[in-house]
Amino acid sequence: MQQTSKQRRILVTMALPYANGPIHLGHILEAVQTDIWVRYQRLKGEDCVYVCADDTHGTAIMLRAENEGITPEALIARVQAEHERDYAGFNIGFSHYHSTHSPENRHYAETIYRAARANGHISQRTIRQLFDPEKELFLADRFIKGTCPKCKAPDQYGDNCENCNATYNAFDLIDPRSTLSGATPVEKESEHYFFRLPEFTDMLKAWTRSGTLQEQVANKLSEWLDGGLQEWDISRDAPYFGFEIPDAPGKYFYVWLDAPIGYMASFRALCDSTNYEFDDYWRPGNGTELYHFIGKDIVNFHTLFWPAVLTSAGYRTPNGVFVHGFVTINGQKMSKSRGTFINAEDYLKHLDAEYLRYYFAAKLSSAVDDLDLNLDDFVARVNADVVGKVVNIASRCAGFIVKGFDGMLAAECSEPALLAEFQAAKPELAQLFEAREYSKAMRLIMALADKANQYIADKAPWTIAKTDKQSPEVQAVCSTGLNMFRILMTYLKPVLPAMAAKVEAFLAIDPLRWDDVDTLLLNHRIGEFSPLISRVDPARVEAMMETVKTAQAATAGAVKADVPASDSPLAKEPVCEEIQFPDFAKVDLRIARIVNAEHVEGADKLLRLTLDLGLDAEGKQVTRNVFSGIKSAYKPEQLVGRLTVMVANLAPRKMKFGMSEGMVLAAGPGGKDIFLLQPDDGAQPGMRVI
Ligand code: MSP
Ligand code: ZN
Repeated sequence: MQQTSKQRRILVTMALPYANGPIHLGHILEAVQTDIWVRYQRLKGEDCVYVCADDTHGTAIMLRAENEGITPEALIARVQAEHERDYAGFNIGFSHYHSTHSPENRHYAETIYRAARANGHISQRTIRQLFDPEKELFLADRFIKGTCPKCKAPDQYGDNCENCNATYNAFDLIDPRSTLSGATPVEKESEHYFFRLPEFTDMLKAWTRSGTLQEQVANKLSEWLDGGLQEWDISRDAPYFGFEIPDAPGKYFYVWLDAPIGYMASFRALCDSTNYEFDDYWRPGNGTELYHFIGKDIVNFHTLFWPAVLTSAGYRTPNGVFVHGFVTINGQKMSKSRGTFINAEDYLKHLDAEYLRYYFAAKLSSAVDDLDLNLDDFVARVNADVVGKVVNIASRCAGFIVKGFDGMLAAECSEPALLAEFQAAKPELAQLFEAREYSKAMRLIMALADKANQYIADKAPWTIAKTDKQSPEVQAVCSTGLNMFRILMTYLKPVLPAMAAKVEAFLAIDPLRWDDVDTLLLNHRIGEFSPLISRVDPARVEAMMETVKTAQAATAGAVKADVPASDSPLAKEPVCEEIQFPDFAKVDLRIARIVNAEHVEGADKLLRLTLDLGLDAEGKQVTRNVFSGIKSAYKPEQLVGRLTVMVANLAPRKMKFGMSEGMVLAAGPGGKDIFLLQPDDGAQPGMRVI
């Protein structure tokens, strides 16, 4: 983008989504809010850079990779590709998308840490923590469960009780256990590194009141600041997926230390392929602007730790941190068990991204309030406004111009005063976009659209055209209508970029810029009108919710949703941890024929089974040797020749009596009551069980 002297130079970020889960509509709200603001700035001709990245570090990602049997690097690469695909599906116009697991991020994390240490802002001391002796790792509170020390409710997390709301120390839990291994945690000491946050109290008191924050946010922070700040623990012990702390072997930066530094890393990577200068944006006093868009749950990281860390290391602080609320669906928190957890991918399978961009814009303000996606309202609102009001203007006028006047717009418009009103809305709309008051902006734009439709209805060009297709009045009225439409689409371009691109093609014009509303499109030949957007079909919304529910029934687990009757076996069995569908999909279940079964010398529970899995791709017979603890229920001769179901992709396991190359599936409490799963006739060895 070309730089002019008055051009603002702005760097915008949104929160970095965690690499341990998919993009959902909450992330999309944040991305859309940010993207509209960025596109508005660019439309006005400002130099506005928008960077983001995946947030890849921490215990959760390490454990998930371990569960999937892949490296954390493989996991985060796969997830990042999915994240980028989903954001692209919603037309999010990043300048660059990066990863916190990158050389740039390591560089800035180390640089900042070293600077903070040199400035006396890092301290070190030994702390006691709960440790899982089986997994051999320190346990964060969310990985510890036990009985509440206050109300004695069982199964409560390590930091607070969902039953009585008490907060406590994980050490005080009764009968604590690690949720990772089930082991009883032990207390263990370890050296930790701290950032001396209290030294920044005065700086933060001034900064949080300097107009950088929404009033609501600044008030909340005042409570914390007045209550006194504590040193911030920025280290974690190995094993941890992250960056090792310089001069501290086995100690890693806590994920929240290097996550916001990811903003710098992403921008650095952009600088390396463009003319942007890193220091222009990150050192104080260069006249550039820095803004972070975030959700309400991560305010303290961005408005206390982050500005303090930046200041400590000699970097600039942000000009603004813009906090939004949470998306709810039909008035409820997004929830997997209720089937209302909508992933970006599920939405895009069924619906156009522009619909949701408009709906969010129509409801977003600069406040921290939650935003409800009411699905009936969504359909009604998008159809009424985007299709019924805006597109309607063009579809009523275009045909007459194309058919009667060979696509030529009139040399003059018929209603200059009305058009001037459309143009005069520009400064107010600019102010509303700048202040993130999108809902007010949308209301103003739709009020103008109403006026345009009223004008066309009053003039009824279709009546005149019935007798005279080439009446100059028809041309003037329809040209006026299309000029109103063009102005409205300019205002809407930050919200509806895909539709605006279609409009530019249809009007045969260069990409619209904000100031284009000052001029009119006259004596100009337009192209063929093609549908710009279709109505939201409520059936598609229903289909999306069906997809969401079915996918989540498979993952959230019928077990959780339906409380089993007390005499059902489910009631007596412990319920396993919830898994995601991809976890389940990794299990390769196959039909196998038991071709041999025999006792195992010295084993009192096991039988050795030889399983026939049919032929592989090259036509070779596949057999597997499996040990199975079903001796109490079956005699070997009962089994030979029968079909069963096996896990065919279980890594071979060395047992006392030899290698076991898989596992057969059985059900029952044990003893004589073990029932080997035996499929119906017709199944063939090697068939996949689905
Ligand atoms: N990785 C951290 C952010 C690090 S920023 C240096 C994180 N990731 S997150 O994936 O959990 O959330 C990313 C953003 O999405 C956050 O701003 C969060 O507030 C926002 N949202 C997550 N769920 C949300 C809704 N249901 N609704 C709206 N935004 C929500 O936090
Ligand atoms: Zn309790």
